Amino acid sequence: MSRIPKIELRKVLADDLEILQTWQSQPHVIAAGAGDDWQWQQELTHSPPWREQLIAELDGRAIGFVQIIDPALEDSHYWGEIEPNLRAIDIWLGSAADLGQGHGSEIMRLVLARCFAEIEVTAVLVDPLAANTRAHRFYRRLGFEFAEARRFGDDDCHALRLSRESWQQTHA
Ligand SMILES: CC(C)(COP(=O)(O)OP(=O)(O)OC[C@H]1O[C@@H](n2cnc3c(N)ncnc32)[C@H](O)[C@@H]1OP(=O)(O)O)[C@@H](O)C(=O)NCCC(=O)NCCS
Repeated sequence: MSRIPKIELRKVLADDLEILQTWQSQPHVIAAGAGDDWQWQQELTHSPPWREQLIAELDGRAIGFVQIIDPALEDSHYWGEIEPNLRAIDIWLGSAADLGQGHGSEIMRLVLARCFAEIEVTAVLVDPLAANTRAHRFYRRLGFEFAEARRFGDDDCHALRLSRESWQQTHA
């Protein structure tokens, strides 16, 4: 009898440095705009209260990275002036061989449940590159809706938003 592969989230560890650096140099991660701005050696030495950095494991094998931040509290104010009680997510799978098999959707299901488990959280945001239309489709299928086009640093992005109400309708 076939078994359903099990995806779990765990906190990033110092030992993940090598795999995170390897993933970050993959063409599909670079194409998504996630290849720069991540100083893993520094990132892994501290864990501020407004951020969670997680590894997704498939049957114990690390396959992806997820960051969840509170954009109102994040110290660089990447999202600018923004209301409280939101979460913003970054996600990528490390190996091109793992793409397109449903793993990302399952990871997002777990991540969204984790975000909305905090009762004060009203909505979750993502900010794919404007050109990353496959990611837009991925997020739309999860219930995210286009919020605005905006520029983050040098990148033209689309902000998409999933409200708690929409999440309850699609995921409950
Ligand atoms: C986005 C991502 C996490 C989705 O995980 P996944 O396991 O590949 O996705 P699933 O198998 O659950 O769903 C398939 C959908 O994912 C999206 N997807 C698949 N490969 C993708 C890629 N290289 N880049 C962006 N989106 C992709 C597409 O919407 C695809 O549906 P489609 O085949 O109809 O186009 C993963 O593809 C990825 O890490 N992509 C590169 C990084 C990225 O774009 N991150 C998001 C923006 S920061």
